[in-house]
Amino acid sequence: MKKLIAVLLAGLMCVSLAACGSKQEEPAQAPAETEAPAQEGQDAEAPAETEAPAEAPGEVKTVTEGVLTMGTNAAFPPYEFYDGEEIVGIDAEIAGLLAEKLGLELEIMDMDFSAIVTSVQTGGVDMGLAGMTVTEERLKNVNFTDSYATGVQVIIVKEDSDIASVDDLEGKLIGVQEGTTGYTFCSEDFGEENVLAYTNGATAVQNLINGSVDCVVIDQQPAISFVEANEGLKILETEYVIEDYAAAVAKENTALLDALNTALEELKADGSIQAVLDKYIKAE
Ligand code: ARG
Repeated sequence: MKKLIAVLLAGLMCVSLAACGSKQEEPAQAPAETEAPAQEGQDAEAPAETEAPAEAPGEVKTVTEGVLTMGTNAAFPPYEFYDGEEIVGIDAEIAGLLAEKLGLELEIMDMDFSAIVTSVQTGGVDMGLAGMTVTEERLKNVNFTDSYATGVQVIIVKEDSDIASVDDLEGKLIGVQEGTTGYTFCSEDFGEENVLAYTNGATAVQNLINGSVDCVVIDQQPAISFVEANEGLKILETEYVIEDYAAAVAKENTALLDALNTALEELKADGSIQAVLDKYIKAE
């Protein structure tokens, strides 16, 4: 059922993106103002806006001139994590490629996952790139680029756990990362009172190890990293939810959205995105 929702959502995203695309043209064909009685002075500026809707290609506005500022939560290997002082991973590398295409310098800002959408919305960062799932809820506040990867919500348990599938989660304590789709889905399906949200996945996993929760629901690739790094854990075969990852961009910055989508398309076509994914994700 969840899979269906995810698929529907992907469809929905296309529709809403398409809707945004067509909105850009609306001002041109909304000459209602022409009929309104001409007002003094100020009116002179209005037509100017209509005439200059499209910015010259490559001239996207960013929070800091010449810089593409990315907001992420760097506790999510292999998408974003620290290598010493540096934030590396799939998203960091893809962002590097995108910035290069746009002729911008990349700057990465690490923050709580639940702060990323707001930061995009309020102009703290230009884009959120954080293994972030496209959801209906988030689409109310930001736009998403085309998807660059698929995510799967999986369940981590202790090796000797009696939990064998999603159906066994009823009445169990579930650990998740706060602000994530794992949190939303589990709260909906199993009751908020059974879901414990931690600031990051690693902490959730630590709480599974010490017995505070019975399982952790999190995206598959970080799950693999966490299980590899800790003894006595396993990932259930069940795929709880399948999702699309994309970059979040401020609603009003459609020039950046378009530029990112064009760049993404090129990077997909020439195999660069796949190469980054392959570098960090081992074939099963
Ligand atoms: N895909 C999930 C979501 O969008 C989890 C993403 C968490 N990402 C992170 N960098 N911590 O909610």
